[in-house]
This record gives sequence, structure tokens and C-alpha cells, in this order.
Amino acid sequence: MKKFVLLGYMGCGKSTIANMLSKNADIPFVDLDKKIEEKLNLSINEIFEAHGEIYFRKLEHETFVELLDSPENLIIGLGGGTPCYANNHELFKGDGVVSVYLKASIETLFGRLAVNKSKRPLIAAQSEDELKEFIAKHLFDRSFYYNQAKYKVIVDGRTIDQTVQDIMDILA
Ligand code: S3P
Repeated sequence: MKKFVLLGYMGCGKSTIANMLSKNADIPFVDLDKKIEEKLNLSINEIFEAHGEIYFRKLEHETFVELLDSPENLIIGLGGGTPCYANNHELFKGDGVVSVYLKASIETLFGRLAVNKSKRPLIAAQSEDELKEFIAKHLFDRSFYYNQAKYKVIVDGRTIDQTVQDIMDILA
């Protein structure tokens, strides 16, 4: 059974692209953050607030492993930080795992996250001035892990449909 893992920084479009890919490829999509929220019946913000980030990262790892072990074909949309903790990036090398890094520029990410940060505890409190610098540094730190993905797809200037087609072409 295959697992198609979509990864990349917050705001790169993982969930939107995974949803569309799921419809086109007729493979179910599971969003890792949503799965964690359902498990605890708390939002990501509430989990960070009540239990802290380390607890979240542990749960994130466990839930990712559970999904990889499930006996069906799945598209899995990771959280932006998933590849960077608990050696999760090593799991990209597993049998039947196809990992795709959705690569977005700092400009693209800033444009999207500046208007969409409230549900993201790591950036919710940043002012617009701080945010761009934060993204630039954070993306630099995380790139090593993102680059462990088997495939890379550039999302800058591409529509959702085009990106989904790019991924379908890779997987064909
Ligand atoms: C995080 C990204 C979020 C979510 C959590 C932490 C991160 O997911 O998992 O807020 O560390 O980058 P999205 O990338 O879907 O926003």
C-alpha cells in the first residue's frame, strides 16, 4: 500500500493541494493536524496552549506513524514542522512512501501567512514586520529536512490545478 506524503512550510498549500489531488487520483486524504485535533478534541492552538509544543510533537510523530502503518493507500498532508522533529524525515524513506516537498518562496509564504496566521501558534503573535524575517530564518533552518523528500514541486506562481498536475505527472 502506498502513502503519498505532502510536506512543506506553513502556507505552502499542503491541505488545499492534497484535497484536490485526492479527488483527481481517487485516493483518500488525511490531514495530520486534523487527525491530531480529532484525537484530542482540541484545536492545534489549544493543544499548544494546554500541553506545550513538545507534547504536540510527540503526538504528531505517533499519529504520523499510525497513518503510515494503516493498511490502505493514503495521501497524508503533514504539518509544516513534522519533517523536522522526532526523525520523522527518516520515515520518508520507508517502503511504499512517496514524499513530495511543496516548495514556496519566502515572498509567497509571507503573502499567504500575513493574512492567515491566527490558527498557527508559532506565528500568531508575530507582527507583519517580524513575520517575513521569521519565515526567512525558519525556512532556512527547516530546509534540510524538507529536502529529504523524494520529489520537489515548486508552487510559486502556479495554480492549485497546475501543481496537482505537476504531482500527478511525477507519480505517473
Ligand atoms: C506547524 C505547522 C502547522 C501545525 C502547527 C505547527 C509548524 O501546520 O502543525 O501549528 O511547526 O510549522 P500547517 O503547516 O498546516 O500550518
